[in-house]
Amino acid sequence: MDSIRVQGGVALQGKVRIQGSKNASLPVLAATLLVEERSFIKNCPRIADVHSMVSLLKCLGCCVRWQETGIVVDSSCVRKREMCQKAVTGMRSSLCLLGALIGRFGEVIMEYPGGCVIGQRPIDLHMAALGQMGVKFTQKNGLLMASAERLCGACIRLPFPSVGATENIILAGVAAEGVTVLEGAALEPEIGALCRYLCCCGACIEGVGSGRLVIHGGRRLRGTTFRVPADRIVAGTYLLGCIGTGGSAFLEQAPEEDMAAVLETARQMGGYVCTCREGIYVQAPRRPKPVRLVTATYPGFPTDLQSVVLAAETRGDGTTYIEEKIFENRFRIVEELTKMGACIDKVDSGRVAVHGVERLHGAKVTARELRGGAALVTAGVMAEGESFVEGCSFIYRGYENIGRDFRELGARVTSV
Ligand code: EPZ
Repeated sequence: MDSIRVQGGVALQGKVRIQGSKNASLPVLAATLLVEERSFIKNCPRIADVHSMVSLLKCLGCCVRWQETGIVVDSSCVRKREMCQKAVTGMRSSLCLLGALIGRFGEVIMEYPGGCVIGQRPIDLHMAALGQMGVKFTQKNGLLMASAERLCGACIRLPFPSVGATENIILAGVAAEGVTVLEGAALEPEIGALCRYLCCCGACIEGVGSGRLVIHGGRRLRGTTFRVPADRIVAGTYLLGCIGTGGSAFLEQAPEEDMAAVLETARQMGGYVCTCREGIYVQAPRRPKPVRLVTATYPGFPTDLQSVVLAAETRGDGTTYIEEKIFENRFRIVEELTKMGACIDKVDSGRVAVHGVERLHGAKVTARELRGGAALVTAGVMAEGESFVEGCSFIYRGYENIGRDFRELGARVTSV
């Protein structure tokens, strides 16, 4: 079933539990390769990208077992020669294995990670930083080979706070000889989660949560139990989706401490938002107020929620301006939303103007990437009548069960 059918025109009402974070789980699972013992990673979401990572770890020789509340990973038996083709091919979706495998084995062969719908996704920052640590890269027949005679700590300054490059530097740094000082590190909460996991295993990383990390390498890492935080992007999807559809919702376990910019935007859109230890409550306005939104690196407004604001503001009470500054092609859903009656002008390649309309109407639309797909389901809930969202395999990469979640909030959503 790769499509979702939505009977729209319903104001969301209800409570939904927020799943564990995809973007925290993936680097933490990759980091288990540096721990030659068993780790129990709790609250991992049951999503396609995590299942892919589990397959990769098993291909590498890890013993991996799902349990009710998480995943047990034992990397004591990993042997580099068991790097089967599937692992090499599958690694495109988990670039953070690069740093972990360099750290464990000093070498890795992977399919050169290509771009995707939202952008070219280059890895120049990863390669330049790891190069400073002694890693040599060669490319042949679409494969990327990386190897290091000696992996050494280095003083690295990232010209852009790339999340993935920061993760790979941390993973290689904890295994390297000596100290790695990273200036210009990404500040996303997922970086903190990775550092906390590694420190629980015995690593020594100073400056966690800041843009300057000091990673002391060469320490033996022991297995541990670690709980992955709730997914701030999934929580933001339902929070902003509620603003667009009307109604009210309680988002259980939503990580409000990681969502300041999102909560601020929700309030600017006219939402009443209050937070407590257990989660976030949101009460939507009749129609969203227009906003001016610019995406940014953390703690700015996250690019991964830009599409949901775009969808919500198609029913806004005025014109909303959105500027996407992280990825170069994150407006593909404009043409799909237009099929539903949205009125959106592309100002230039990075900016759109969304002229709010009273109502959207149902249509058949196509998801082409993960977060745009979630935004299209949201638009279907907002629209009068029936919508079909095709290409939902993209959505299942990051959402455990978006249909179930929306149903718990009172929407009429079914997989077909
Ligand atoms: C992570 O991607 C997330 N993915 C993305 O979430 C998220 O949108 C992004 O960070 C920004 O927050 C995971 O964590 C698995 P970046 P990543 O490196 O690491 C450019 C989702 O929907 N860049 O911070 O790839 C790059 O082209 C996904 O869950 C270089 O130029 O993001 C982009 O414009 C989508 N050279 C910008 O930096 C490099 O070597 C941000 O990329 C690396 C990145």
